[in-house]
Amino acid sequence: MDHFLYRDGALYAEDVPIAEIAAGVGTPFYVYSTATLTRHFRLFDEALDGVPHLVCYAMKAASNQAILKTLAGLGAGMDVVSGGEYARAVAAGVPGDRIVFSGVGKTRDEMRQALTGGIRQFNVESEPEMAALNEVAQELGTVAPITVRVNPDVDAKTHAKIATGKSENKFGIPIARARDVYAHAATLPGLKVIGIDVHIGSQLTELEPFRLAYEKVGELTEQLRADGHDIQRLDLGGGLGIPYTRSNDAPPLPTEYGALIKDTLGHLGCEIEIEPGRLVAGNAGLMVSKVIYVKSGEDREFLILDGAMNDLIRPAMYEAHHDIIPVIEPEAGAEQTPYDIVGPVCESGDTFAKGRMMPPVNTGDLVAFRSAGAYGAVMASEYNTRPLIPEVLVHGHQFAVIRSRPSFDEMINRDTIPEWL
Ligand code: LLP
Repeated sequence: MDHFLYRDGALYAEDVPIAEIAAGVGTPFYVYSTATLTRHFRLFDEALDGVPHLVCYAMKAASNQAILKTLAGLGAGMDVVSGGEYARAVAAGVPGDRIVFSGVGKTRDEMRQALTGGIRQFNVESEPEMAALNEVAQELGTVAPITVRVNPDVDAKTHAKIATGKSENKFGIPIARARDVYAHAATLPGLKVIGIDVHIGSQLTELEPFRLAYEKVGELTEQLRADGHDIQRLDLGGGLGIPYTRSNDAPPLPTEYGALIKDTLGHLGCEIEIEPGRLVAGNAGLMVSKVIYVKSGEDREFLILDGAMNDLIRPAMYEAHHDIIPVIEPEAGAEQTPYDIVGPVCESGDTFAKGRMMPPVNTGDLVAFRSAGAYGAVMASEYNTRPLIPEVLVHGHQFAVIRSRPSFDEMINRDTIPEWL
């Protein structure tokens, strides 16, 4: 459920007409709903009621500080994957002891930054990373709390580019080697082992892969405890999928996911961390764009929008489907015809949808891409020297620009011309 609904014939974000935002900030833009972000965060938080837990929002999904602040205010921790994300989380007011640091290639500088600023734990992904973190912590005269990310070799049954839990993926250490790696970690004075981490992929639409992975983590917890390790915390990653269309079978709900966690791991008495990103932000955001031209090709109609692949890369990158709906509500029973919906960027990959059935659309109409709140704005680029598009946050009747559109000068002046030119 989200808070983008038609009312009196027009699309609203909560109590604000989308057309009013478009008139104020211009198109294209991203708009997020505070009520939807809040609802989705709480669904996870409540799904883990009864077990000690922290929901660490995977801020890679949508990392505007206003979004982070909204979630942090509800009690969220953050899952960060770079020094930049760490700095952004801190700038949004998230305390270090609510930040977990994931990622396969943390640099020593990033380790120093987090150890100095405060960190809940590093999710370590390899032996060389462990050695580096041990050294950095010792240099700083501190001890780094760690989990080791294990790769359970489980098929997440999702798009290959976002599956992370198979042995051929670059992530984690093979679960079969985990006991040796933990034994080694225990000998390193700069590290304190506190738990286990796992994350098998994103946009999972079934619970079974989670069950397989979490059962393996449960067994490993018992083995490691028998080996003398103090396993107090299990970080179970993110990955629960969202419905991208109204028609298909909806993925499992956070309540069912929470029940699965309790069922597979509840008996161990560990503190549970989860790192959802997409489910918190995905359906809490739209990308709104304007039709520049309706163009007739030889055998098809093109809708040429002012939004492009640089603004929303998911269709070009993962063949992802986003529902695209008119901002003016179509008449009930309006005839639908197929359109190829494209952006102005100079490559054929700049195609959002082919043969998409739409009610009649005219030049100047606004359309909204649903489910664009996660991995939308954060993956945008300035390809074709197109400015990053604004982000807007709605809260009831209010809306605010939370990132403005840069001017051409701001973009261009980031270049510097060497003196010999
Ligand atoms: N934790 C870790 C360690 C991750 O790598 C990820 C996502 C998450 C949590 C959050 O997963 P989520 O709950 O959002 O599924 N750009 C792609 C998605 C990449 C996901 C990368 N890792 C897309 O647009 O579909």
